[in-house]
Amino acid sequence: MYGRDLLSIADLSPEELDRILQTALSLKRDGGGARLLAGKTLALIFEKPSLRTRVSFDVAMHELGGHAVYLSQSEVGLGQREPVADVARVLSRYVDVIAARTYLHQTLLDLARHAGVPVINALSDEEHPCQALADLLTVLERFGTLRGVRLAYVGDGFNVAASLAEAAALAAMSFAIASPAGYRLPDATLRFIERTAADSGGRIDVCATPAEAVRGADVVYTDVWTSMGQEDSYAERKEAFAGYTVTAELLALANPSAIFMHDLPAHRGDEVTEEVIEGAQSVVFDQAENRLHAQKAILALVAGDQAL
Ligand code: CP
Repeated sequence: MYGRDLLSIADLSPEELDRILQTALSLKRDGGGARLLAGKTLALIFEKPSLRTRVSFDVAMHELGGHAVYLSQSEVGLGQREPVADVARVLSRYVDVIAARTYLHQTLLDLARHAGVPVINALSDEEHPCQALADLLTVLERFGTLRGVRLAYVGDGFNVAASLAEAAALAAMSFAIASPAGYRLPDATLRFIERTAADSGGRIDVCATPAEAVRGADVVYTDVWTSMGQEDSYAERKEAFAGYTVTAELLALANPSAIFMHDLPAHRGDEVTEEVIEGAQSVVFDQAENRLHAQKAILALVAGDQAL
């Protein structure tokens, strides 16, 4: 995977997905990798706020022997102070890899087209591949396998759901999703996951209600109803998502050993109750930790000189 971009989970083969997860498990278990990116630099470009992604990428580079340079939108002015193509070409003269969080996925595509170094999607309006890889790592640790594990996603079919669905299909999981009308997965994503699940032996169920999706699930996952940049539509979304809160009653329809997942930050009282997110089935902080291990694996594979 050396030199490759990671813009979408759909860019990965099932073997590459597994390789990232196995590398992450190995780095996490052995605490190794201290010299894998010695002398290498990561540019972190963020058009939007972040806690987990920013800190975990920075710490990942430090733990791999390299370092990170953080660039906020107010400093770089991606596409405003300077064309995206120029930022990509300038940064490629200084750094070994770029991770970018952009409003538009097209900005990432433009960065990747003009950069001479790998570009990693740190969240766009279409995908959050690093989150999905950390999520599958968390499921793999809990269940010892991904094949056949049933994950129910309840809520907005936006970027987090799209990457999660694609990753689940590649990994032959059973993925069920319930979203209100107007907030469903894009048709292109649905086509990809149906085709991929058919090839991998996975299963995709688009459900009419949260209860239908959650019944018998091993994992119950939700995300915020209003993502960054959508704040103006909060009232409209709150109305549309009525009935989609993951409550203790909804979670009780899942398998008794089911886990609850959320990529964070969470809006308690909207998509999940305080009782569920703070409850014994919640693994949200394991997920957050696994962002570090998954991203160490991605960085080592796309920017490291050593074969892993
Ligand atoms: N889950 C996630 O991407 O968190 P941040 O927005 O804090 O990076």
